[in-house]
Amino acid sequence: MLNKIAGLKAEIESLSASTPDEVEALRIKYLSKKGAVTALMADFRNVPAENKREIGQAINDLKNFATDRINSLREALETADTIDPTLDLTRPGAAMPVGTRHPLSIVTDEIISIFSRLGFTVAEGPEVEDDWHVFSSLNFAADHPARDMQDTFFINRNPDVLLRTHTSSVQSRVMEHTQPPIRIICPGRVYRNEAISARAHCFFHQVEALYVDTDVSFADLKQTLLYFAREMFGPDTSIRLRPSYFPFTEPSAEMDISCNLCGGKGCSFCKGTGWVEILGCGMVDPNVLEACGIDSKRYSGFALGMGVERITNLKYQVKDLRMFSENDTRFLEEFTAAAH
Ligand code: DAH
Repeated sequence: MLNKIAGLKAEIESLSASTPDEVEALRIKYLSKKGAVTALMADFRNVPAENKREIGQAINDLKNFATDRINSLREALETADTIDPTLDLTRPGAAMPVGTRHPLSIVTDEIISIFSRLGFTVAEGPEVEDDWHVFSSLNFAADHPARDMQDTFFINRNPDVLLRTHTSSVQSRVMEHTQPPIRIICPGRVYRNEAISARAHCFFHQVEALYVDTDVSFADLKQTLLYFAREMFGPDTSIRLRPSYFPFTEPSAEMDISCNLCGGKGCSFCKGTGWVEILGCGMVDPNVLEACGIDSKRYSGFALGMGVERITNLKYQVKDLRMFSENDTRFLEEFTAAAH
């Protein structure tokens, strides 16, 4: 009897069915009133009393096993039925939106990449600075207005701890511990005590460039500026330099580029002049070199600094500076194409 039960169990274990009707036929074959498992009950009557317990248990187990097996055959067919045969299960999933890079990052990276083609490498410095690196080492007079609380955010006075107002502070930090040749580009965030409006913000971004070596001349500066302007704004771009003043450069200049919206003919963007201002520059003042431990008789250098928001505005016509820090995804998504 036990052999018979084991044989039936093996048989049931290897059952298969490909339609619901076949499953039903199996149920009838094994579990209906006249089924093979039920038939064992009839034989059970003839089992000697001392074996009844063991065999009864085995028959019960077999019945449960057969019920489970047939139910799972039925379930397997039901799930298979719910898959639409016209679905292409090998098709790749829909792409997840991954966001975009911020326009200021896109433009900063582009500036860095242009200067890196000229051999400049990135240098960074802290946003919380001291007076020496932001002002004194850069030849700012003791009574310069930038040292006033009206213009600069001070965290502490005497000793002065402040938020840097320009990335020129990285120049002095690098010159203090590096001897020429120095060729660095310094991107970063800067802070000024301004009321926030469409045209001014209390923080913005700058990129500074510094080149110090023997025999660096104004011609080197001019050529670098022209190369930068054409790489950034296109090969037809012209530049012009206007004399200016910065404490840390002598001589100093401001650079305009031909208006990239009207091509220099004059439009509302360039206020009819055909030119737009983009950066400040000049030859590093010998006082700055000396303050940072560099021999100004042996070495000379040029420096330049630009606002990243300004360049981004020129490239993408962003009308309101506040857009850059509001994180409105409708604005940011407009730069998806520019990021690739
Ligand atoms: N630091 C200046 C500013 O924030 C920009 C600047 C002008 C940087 C001339 C320079 C430079 O390196 O030579 O307005």
